[in-house]
Amino acid sequence: MLRLGPFTLANPYVLAPMAGVSEMPYRVLAFRMGAALCPTELVSSQGLMRANQRTLMYLRFDAQVEKPYSLQLYGGDPEAMGLAASVGRSHGAQLLDINMGCPVKKVTKNGAGSALLSDPPRAAAIVRAMREASGLPVTCKIRSGWDARSRNYLQMAEALQEAGCAGLAIHPRTREQGYSGSADWSVIADVKRHFPELPLFGNGDVKSCEDARRMLETTGCDFVMIGRAALGNPWIFRELTGGEPPTPEERCALVLEHFHAHLAFVGDPLGAVRSFRRHLGWYAHGLVGAAVFRARVNTLDAPEAVADAVRAFFATADRASNPGAASEEEQDVDYRAALG
Ligand SMILES: Cc1cc2nc3c(=O)[nH]c(=O)nc-3n(C[C@H](O)[C@H](O)[C@H](O)COP(=O)(O)O)c2cc1C
Repeated sequence: MLRLGPFTLANPYVLAPMAGVSEMPYRVLAFRMGAALCPTELVSSQGLMRANQRTLMYLRFDAQVEKPYSLQLYGGDPEAMGLAASVGRSHGAQLLDINMGCPVKKVTKNGAGSALLSDPPRAAAIVRAMREASGLPVTCKIRSGWDARSRNYLQMAEALQEAGCAGLAIHPRTREQGYSGSADWSVIADVKRHFPELPLFGNGDVKSCEDARRMLETTGCDFVMIGRAALGNPWIFRELTGGEPPTPEERCALVLEHFHAHLAFVGDPLGAVRSFRRHLGWYAHGLVGAAVFRARVNTLDAPEAVADAVRAFFATADRASNPGAASEEEQDVDYRAALG
């Protein structure tokens, strides 16, 4: 059951949309490693309608690799989301995803992101408006509810299915939980039981290939969406589809390739070097000497100096034999920071 609207996906493993991460260069790497779908990070419907330059940058994609190209939009107004959907289509989007989970105030105060969980009829009206305006399949990404007293995910799923959504992703934490506690996978199983026909993406706390397979088996979801475990580790998709973890040489070559693609994507060398530091921290996570490497690259502003430091570190870097030793380098993943 790997159908998603008019598309057949190659496998059930997809990259989660992540602000500041799921930009074209990283999506292309994840696709090449075997991810079946890599939606963009959330893109503002208002920014799209105003043709804001920064917003348009998020729309860039690689038509050769990104098949299908899925664009995630956020907004609270059905009419504006319809217009943004048609702009997205004119820029090449083949699939549209609606963000109904973002907990950040800047987003929810305008009735967008997770604020839509409190208003299923408006969420459904947005799906309809986007489908009608663009003619494209529309998927939605939700949380389990606004807070512990309003876990209305079944009501949301029903309203969205009625409105014709082509697939539903669920991150089973409430808005109130943010990223605390753990994702409640029983919610994913519950949605599948009630809406067996609706293609379902399970998401939340998949930390390894084993977790991903366990989520498929235990919840019955059709697809597994992987976020934080893919930071600095696009190879997770290769491993999930039968491949091997990277050798040090491969890791080094891919980090350099990502860095050069990121430089070209951002355009401004200093901005690119600084925004790539997060990726370098993630790539180095769990490798011997990661803390020293991170401290060093954080002082470098010249692209060539960064590339030299990457070559010197990754060409020989080994996994820490004692994974506990790497725990002080916990991944820095702050959704709010990513949204600026
Ligand atoms: C840095 C970061 C940025 C995120 N940005 C988005 C986003 O733009 N759109 C979205 O729907 N979810 C976003 N999320 C949520 C993830 O898609 C996902 O639902 C969440 O991280 C749980 O999955 P995980 O446990 O596999 O990381 C973001 C998460 C992180 C960590």
